[in-house]
Amino acid sequence: MKKRVQIFDTTLRDGEQSPGFSMNHAEKLRMAEQLERLGVDVIEAGFPIASDGDFEAVKEISKRITDCQVAGLCRIRVEDISRAWEALQYAKHPRIHTFVATSDIHLVHKLNMSRQQVLAAAVSGVTYARNLCEIVEFSAEDASRTDPDYLCQITEAVIDAGATIVNIPDTVGYAVPDEFGGLIRYLKENVSNIDKAIISVHCHNDLGLAVANSLAAVQNGAQQIECTINGIGERAGNASLEEIVMALLVRQAYYHTDTSVNTKEIFPASQLLAEITGNEVQPNKAIVGRNAFAHEAGIHQDGMLKNPLTYEIMTPQTVGVPQNLLVLGKHSGRRALDARLQDLGFTFSKDEINSIYTCFTVLADHKKTITDEDLVYLTKVGLESTDSKVISKNIQEYINQ
Ligand code: KIV
Ligand code: ZN
Repeated sequence: MKKRVQIFDTTLRDGEQSPGFSMNHAEKLRMAEQLERLGVDVIEAGFPIASDGDFEAVKEISKRITDCQVAGLCRIRVEDISRAWEALQYAKHPRIHTFVATSDIHLVHKLNMSRQQVLAAAVSGVTYARNLCEIVEFSAEDASRTDPDYLCQITEAVIDAGATIVNIPDTVGYAVPDEFGGLIRYLKENVSNIDKAIISVHCHNDLGLAVANSLAAVQNGAQQIECTINGIGERAGNASLEEIVMALLVRQAYYHTDTSVNTKEIFPASQLLAEITGNEVQPNKAIVGRNAFAHEAGIHQDGMLKNPLTYEIMTPQTVGVPQNLLVLGKHSGRRALDARLQDLGFTFSKDEINSIYTCFTVLADHKKTITDEDLVYLTKVGLESTDSKVISKNIQEYINQ
């Protein structure tokens, strides 16, 4: 039987707090509406006590979004939790997300508190939050560098105090997959009341392992993944939503899980975020990058034209990318050239294609990508002469235009 993994999107909180990704009020609302269309389970809309702007955004998103839970982040202090609730109370499905650091490094150098003090503060914060809201998430910041037995102790205590979700963040992106999966298993085996809460994970990408760590956690019992569109977030970012969702979908037979995400809305969400923040997605980014479905090498293009299964593990349409892109460049073969020319309405004999292809390779040595406009020109010069000197001269003139 398939298990359902909840997708908790934190693009508007962890993502938005990273340099170069801030959004204004209207932009946050547009993004939240797209996340609702995407079908995530939870939208973390902001950190209400951090600024009036964050407060207003969480409040407005709470009023507008009806299909997803809306979460607001707060530390375990009463004034933080109250402020979060002031904004979240309008939500149809509100969630208070409260956190405190639990690793000795943070306790000693940041909080100046003992383990017992942090545990007591976490319990009273969760108790207070639970009196306001039915759904309360507790995050043990820097959990992956926390003593596992202390992590079990505090997890058990906050569940007793009413936490319905316990989140285990790899805050500094330090964990590796086997180890992180093992930590989730350890919690499942050593926290007596763990079945009363959902286990969540929140992985950062400092070593490029955020998605791998999140998937390892799912294999070991995590039921919620926190992630962001395009993987944005503090420093190297968070686990990327599109990679998580598509890994679980494409490898469903392996993970036996599903999500509520409407994958056709993935690319539109990625594009909207890029447009709003002015940060283009890197071309080779998995799932949503410009090259994610582009095949340039001749052998690959030939295989794709014969049967897409040869080089494609998911279709671009599944994630809402308008069409498959066969990029024509110096690695492309005759078949791809012919296919593109046919798309443009040309029909040529084999010999004609061979001549056009000769010109194409000369131009491709000078230009990275051959556009449709270039192709129209090549159909003329390609049929004019087969003399290599004439071809070089013509192409040189075309480049110099
Ligand atoms: O990275 C982190 O630990 C966080 C928590 C607040 C969940 O963002
Ligand atoms: Zn984080």
